Amino acid sequence: MKKLWMICALALTSQVALAKDIYVTIGTDAVSVSQKNFSGMKALDHYEGISVLKINDTQIEKLSKLMHDKFHRCGGFVVHDSKSEALKVLSDSAIRKLAKKQKFVDYTITEGATTTAMVSMIKEFNIRSTIEKLSSFHNRYYKSQSGLDSQAWIKGQWEKMSQGRADVTVEYFKHSNFPQPSIIMTVEGTTKSDEIVIIGGHADSIAGYWGRERARAPGADDNASGIATITETIRVLMETGHKPQRTIKFMAYAAEEVGLLGSKDIANSFKKAGKKVVGVLQLDMTNHAGTADKDIVFMTDFTNSDQTEFMGRLVDTYVHVPWGFSKCGYGCSDHASWHNAGYPASMPFESTMGDINSKIHTKNDTIAQSGSHAQHAEKFAKLAMSFLVELGK
Ligand code: BES
Ligand code: ZN
Repeated sequence: MKKLWMICALALTSQVALAKDIYVTIGTDAVSVSQKNFSGMKALDHYEGISVLKINDTQIEKLSKLMHDKFHRCGGFVVHDSKSEALKVLSDSAIRKLAKKQKFVDYTITEGATTTAMVSMIKEFNIRSTIEKLSSFHNRYYKSQSGLDSQAWIKGQWEKMSQGRADVTVEYFKHSNFPQPSIIMTVEGTTKSDEIVIIGGHADSIAGYWGRERARAPGADDNASGIATITETIRVLMETGHKPQRTIKFMAYAAEEVGLLGSKDIANSFKKAGKKVVGVLQLDMTNHAGTADKDIVFMTDFTNSDQTEFMGRLVDTYVHVPWGFSKCGYGCSDHASWHNAGYPASMPFESTMGDINSKIHTKNDTIAQSGSHAQHAEKFAKLAMSFLVELGK
């Protein structure tokens, strides 16, 4: 546990350089404990459980340790470049409130026979093979050559599966500030093609602090598991030739581990273009069964409550495993990028936050830590499959 805290702290310090006053967004529930422990921390504003704290750079490691020890959060707060950037997180409140509470579409479950047939085609072996292949890249860091090679491999797999389909494209989404591209596979909807359903996860990995370009980072759980889950969903969709009415976009985001950079870029460009995204599913960490009595745990923050409730019903109808709720306490993955842009997102996660996989962001995040199989991730692929069919109709 101590080791994980050190990694969390190091990851955070890398973002602050030498600034004296710094601004962080942090769960409001952690503010008074933080203020009690450290002098001079000033709470500037808060909205819906998130606060902006002014702290100084010498307090960052201690705050990270406090968050880890008292709240079991890795990181647990986000460091911002400026006061205005931190406050903007709160000032986008109206947009985020809609993203959380607005009911975007009809969530009635109607496609029983089709969905059941497609769910039964999901195969654990394929997910396991993809996790093994992705974790064999030295790392998938957003600035390293192997992080470019791993994206080329995913793109190649998705292209191979969609060969001969005139209604499917696989493209890089290039980012102007860093070399690693994201990947977007689009399946054009038949009758409602302007309405978009997104299934995504981050493809990059990270470990260590100094020389991250060279550090071994298998990222098997975080997040080869999510990409493998998505890839198996694509395989079944392509093999059945099922044609959704809405447009489906599968996304493998770049540079999540360094501040959700890839997804932020994409979500903001969709918002700017006025694209109608009716649902976003985020798959980040699906293969480590950390919580004994819950297989699928839905994050309740930075997500849409109606869509998440719908996903709970999908689990009961098609996956038949126990599920529950938890929260990150901060924008812990790419769903937050979509949420902050005003779109409805859900994040089904492998365990509660109290039971997180302690090996993530280290060289030991391998599939061996999850029993060398992908039985947990298989449940998430079944869920993604049913989400695609029932929301894509
Ligand atoms: N997969 C993690 C997020 C995560 C970790 C969710 C543990 C739930 C439990 C993600 O890749 C990550 O590491 N996110 C960063 C934050 C991001 C803004 C850089 C984190 O959690 O520190
Ligand atoms: Zn991570």
